[in-house]
Amino acid sequence: MGIDRVNWGIVATGNISTSFTKDLALLEDAQVTAVASRSLENANRFGDTFGIEHRYDDYSRLIESGTVDVIYVGTPHPQHYGIARAALQAGIAVLCEKPVTLTAKQARDLVDVAHANNTLFAEAMWMRTNPVVQAMFADLAKGVIGEPMEALADFGFYKPELPARLLDPALGGGSLMDGGIYPMTFVHMALGRPDEVKAVGSLNSDGIDLNVAMAWRYDSGAIAAMTCGLRSQNPWTASVSGPDGHLLLPHRFHHPDHYVRSTGAGTERIEVPTHGLGYHYEAAEVMRALRDGLVECPALPHAATIEILELLDETRRQIGVRYPGDDEDLGG
Ligand SMILES: NC(=O)c1ccc[n+]([C@@H]2O[C@H](COP(=O)([O-])OP(=O)(O)OC[C@H]3O[C@@H](n4cnc5c(N)ncnc54)[C@H](OP(=O)(O)O)[C@@H]3O)[C@@H](O)[C@H]2O)c1
Repeated sequence: MGIDRVNWGIVATGNISTSFTKDLALLEDAQVTAVASRSLENANRFGDTFGIEHRYDDYSRLIESGTVDVIYVGTPHPQHYGIARAALQAGIAVLCEKPVTLTAKQARDLVDVAHANNTLFAEAMWMRTNPVVQAMFADLAKGVIGEPMEALADFGFYKPELPARLLDPALGGGSLMDGGIYPMTFVHMALGRPDEVKAVGSLNSDGIDLNVAMAWRYDSGAIAAMTCGLRSQNPWTASVSGPDGHLLLPHRFHHPDHYVRSTGAGTERIEVPTHGLGYHYEAAEVMRALRDGLVECPALPHAATIEILELLDETRRQIGVRYPGDDEDLGG
């Protein structure tokens, strides 16, 4: 593609956009040239903080501006689909926060639009690009624990005051879509797509899931158990085990600073150097894929994004979580 510096546009100025933009500064070949917010005031505040030249009070104006090669989408989940679709149709590459859409049907559509426009599209599942997580999975692939037969992962925290979007059905609220996607991704990476899925959840009076437990079964005989929630301070760990031992990612397993290998040779704490908040790793992968002229970033594969959304669809069906406008799409 012949890009020296990649020009990024940031869509939305909330928490995760702030963290992501901080980390982009760690990549010398990345430059943030534009930011868009629903309000010019917020676009200007964000633009001043990060020294961004172009500021827009409308996401679509950024997409139409011709000032960026790729956008990063940091809105609540329900807004991802429309913004990503418009950008891909305009030939602007997209790195979009997780979950990339509310349903698998929408994600499949985005992948189709990406191919039709020969434009890169990736889900910002940053855990996949974390060096510690990658080192742990490289160990798994080497067979240090034998054939993986069980995986356990949980993503639960409690805060007396939760961000409003987590409790709002119109903003795709609930623990599953926000946090549950991480244990599901870990287990999917460890064991693949399950052959049977069971889920239970407790919902509040608005139909928002406050905690969820999931069990997956594989025809190979493997099984997995996952939880997510907004009600308890969980260990927040993930592990995979086989006949010869287990590999464990510690607290906040989706961006750990080490992992534990426990085999017949003993238990070792394995340090892997990381820096920054951890979002520049996914950005670097996206920039590499852009330079290679790819539609799909190898580190953030489309098939996994879609399969996990299919599993989220099925889990929501079982626990009875619905979002405005997704009844039709939830058909899978
Ligand atoms: N990868 C990670 O580690 C991570 C961590 C947290 C969240 N996330 C994901 O990132 C997304 C955003 O989460 P966040 O925690 O950054 O949320 P947030 O702090 O509430 O920010 C979301 C931003 O989206 C924009 N927005 C557009 N439509 C909105 C609406 N109807 N209501 C509220 N805001 C709206 C707003 O920006 P403007 O006012 O500037 O338009 C707002 O600041 C979610 O999809 C979440 O799953 C990822």
